[in-house]
Amino acid sequence: MQMLKKGYFGDFGGRFVPELLMPPLIELEEAMGRIMPSPIFQQELGRIMADFVGRPTPLYHCQGLSEMLGRNIWLKREDLAHTGAHKVNNTMGQALLAKHMGKPRLIAETGAGQHGVATATAAAMLGLECVVYMGSIDVKRQSHNVRRMKLLGAEVRPVESGTKTLKDAINAALRDWIAEQRTTHYCLGSVTGAHPFPLLVRDLQAVIGREAKRQFMEKMGGKLPYMIVACVGGGSNAIGAFHEFVPHGEVRLVGVEAAGTGELGCYHSATLTKGEHGVLHGALTKLLQDKHGQVEPSHSVAAGLDYPGVGPEHAGLQAAGRAEYYCVNDTQALNAFQVLCRTEGIIPALESSHALAWVLDNAESIPRGEHVIINLSGRGDKDLDIIEEVLGI
Ligand SMILES: Cc1ncc(COP(=O)(O)O)c(C=O)c1O
Repeated sequence: MQMLKKGYFGDFGGRFVPELLMPPLIELEEAMGRIMPSPIFQQELGRIMADFVGRPTPLYHCQGLSEMLGRNIWLKREDLAHTGAHKVNNTMGQALLAKHMGKPRLIAETGAGQHGVATATAAAMLGLECVVYMGSIDVKRQSHNVRRMKLLGAEVRPVESGTKTLKDAINAALRDWIAEQRTTHYCLGSVTGAHPFPLLVRDLQAVIGREAKRQFMEKMGGKLPYMIVACVGGGSNAIGAFHEFVPHGEVRLVGVEAAGTGELGCYHSATLTKGEHGVLHGALTKLLQDKHGQVEPSHSVAAGLDYPGVGPEHAGLQAAGRAEYYCVNDTQALNAFQVLCRTEGIIPALESSHALAWVLDNAESIPRGEHVIINLSGRGDKDLDIIEEVLGI
């Protein structure tokens, strides 16, 4: 989406932060404009993306699913990127930027732990110190990733306040950044937060859609896909997949949020489908809130979707009618998880399973024979404890 007013996507975005956060945000914006376009930075990042991250990731045609649904299903395999999720595209870029800015310390927040692992990886690879804030509930349900972060040399700080999930981890990281801004870069994990983060993370994740478009057109003789589908937590894998296709109005862009347990009145994370306008973590966006404007707790079986806000660019794309947003519940996602395991031999992240579930359950609304790209944002190894608990496998 084009930015007509600096820091805004339509009516959404901006920089609603305490005064003490203005200097590091302005410093970051200046560094983005000065360092990132330089040939030295671009060459170094390109080399890291190819040789360390493993890009380009494949665009895979699913034989079994396509036959089952009568539609051509393609997976953009971000699960095959180093560390097992799209998050590494963003962290390698931000960590390299921090290094060029002369900041020796990275801090991050994480929900599913994938962003924490990706930040710890980038820090280790570039020789930076790393502290990761994580809600204590997420520390328990994503213990596999906590162990990985520690092995990579990061300090994991459990957060006990609020709902003890991602929202509270972000608050803790922001407090750290205020105190340590001279030495520290806050490596934010999604297209959320105050300007310039939604733009910075979007530009680093846009590689997903750029590659997918090139790969699809090469395989299909110049044709564009009918639809791109991605799950939406904060929204970074979805914006990364969508961005290249936004100018192609004929390509449907579908974001899938978490409807939680799906029961009436349950907690969920369906910010765009059920939220209202409000300010969260420095941006005007849509969020889950009660009638007094208090942020409501969110829920999803997928820790990475369990966030009551969403990136402002998605709110802008929705308001402009350019992207569509729907939600699927925990049961639908768990079902899709099992379908992909058994029909394609791929164990997806529970987050990505939401995108898959929407396609499985809404295939009838897609014309027969059409081509759908699903962004498989990550692999499911991190979720095996939850899967064992809820599916009894
Ligand atoms: C595999 C995976 N997919 C999706 C998400 C959701 O984040 P985003 O909406 O920013 O892509 C996460 C977050 O941790 C994740 O780990």
